[in-house]
Amino acid sequence: MWAYGVDKEKLKEIQSVRLEDRIPSLGIKKLDVPIPTLKPDEVLIKPKYSALNFNSLWSSVGYPVTPFQLISGHVSRNPADKDHLLDYAIFGSDCSGTIVNVGTNVQNWSINDEVVVHCNVINSLDPIIENDSMKSATQSIWGYETNFGAFAEYCKVKAGQLLPKPVSVDWPHAASYCLTHSTAYRMLISDNGANLKAGETCLIWGAAGGLGTFAIQLCKLAGVRCVAVVSSEEKAKICKELGADIVIDRSKSAFGPFRDNTGKQDKLAWAKGKKLLASLGVKNIDVVFEHVGAATLGASIYFLKKGGRVVICAASSGYDAEVDLRYLWMEVKTVIGSHFANYSEAQNASNLVAPGQVVPKIYGIYEISKLGQLMDEMFLGKTFGKIVFRH
Ligand SMILES: NC(=O)c1ccc[n+]([C@@H]2O[C@H](COP(=O)([O-])OP(=O)(O)OC[C@H]3O[C@@H](n4cnc5c(N)ncnc54)[C@H](OP(=O)(O)O)[C@@H]3O)[C@@H](O)[C@H]2O)c1
Repeated sequence: MWAYGVDKEKLKEIQSVRLEDRIPSLGIKKLDVPIPTLKPDEVLIKPKYSALNFNSLWSSVGYPVTPFQLISGHVSRNPADKDHLLDYAIFGSDCSGTIVNVGTNVQNWSINDEVVVHCNVINSLDPIIENDSMKSATQSIWGYETNFGAFAEYCKVKAGQLLPKPVSVDWPHAASYCLTHSTAYRMLISDNGANLKAGETCLIWGAAGGLGTFAIQLCKLAGVRCVAVVSSEEKAKICKELGADIVIDRSKSAFGPFRDNTGKQDKLAWAKGKKLLASLGVKNIDVVFEHVGAATLGASIYFLKKGGRVVICAASSGYDAEVDLRYLWMEVKTVIGSHFANYSEAQNASNLVAPGQVVPKIYGIYEISKLGQLMDEMFLGKTFGKIVFRH
């Protein structure tokens, strides 16, 4: 079958390029590999559409760790999955498609069922999953920390990763939302995240992105005032259309950068940012939706009102963030770490897409052969919303 990912030879090639010169298309290739064989709890899917997530960009540039290191980590947590240890890794963590085969222990799912794949891989025998599967030591992200991801003619998943495809949602939209929408749902709505309340104000970084376009819509559904931050006029327009109350185009206004040329936090820039927010009528920020990391976390904590919370799921600009802790403890603020979503959070998020209460914002639908080109565009910050591929 065809598949897109990396083999050990390609990985060596990308590793020979200086990190600052790497772009994702240099680190992926079209592979010709066997159709995966099923273990008893697994299901074989023929994807109709898949969607791109930033984790495939990290995998293709081999940073901060390589796909083979991630898969080894998964297998050490889940020794039964040693069939994932191969000379290649297939990327991709979102798809919609049909079931073409089921393992001998799979119940409730049959050949021809139409499904959306949820990217949380866990050992279903771990008792903690009844509470919150994201806390299971066995937990991994499919197509990033595991092999046999979505960018292939066939992919294999654990039966516990399947959600029924909402009948009201077409195939491309069904492929687009599960990873980022479920992540935003846990971050903003769930008790495991910021648990937003009507009347609160939330600042969203990268608001026209894969996470941000869902975060805006979730804020609006929750009755929350939403301050969207973006870096172009086109992205600002998208956020307004999605319902953002206030949009800051950081390419034009005095809103960052919040670090100086040496990488040190620029507290004068923090103060200017707060002043700009106040001039727009934003005096009290209850929640900041964070995934940018080192470039913004210090400022995010500083911007919050007393008792406010930052909810963070990533660090695109670097994970060694510098913060001024005085603004944390003296102002009794909280930083909440959040990662993807458990099954019930993903199902709740999906239930909002089915009736059209949340509508995925699609950047474009492309042939899967364009994967490398679109990865580069996303890496350079040129895209918005979700990028979908036809298989
Ligand atoms: N833990 C999880 O479960 C999880 C789930 C999904 C995603 N993630 C991670 O979250 C991150 C974002 O994912 P995404 O799908 O939303 O990506 P995306 O569509 O590329 O959007 C990210 C946006 O962040 C903004 N940004 C980047 N650098 C910035 C900076 N220095 N200052 C301010 N804004 C900056 C950019 O928006 P503007 O240029 O318009 O400001 C960019 O478009 C990635 O690192 C991804 O791996 C984690």
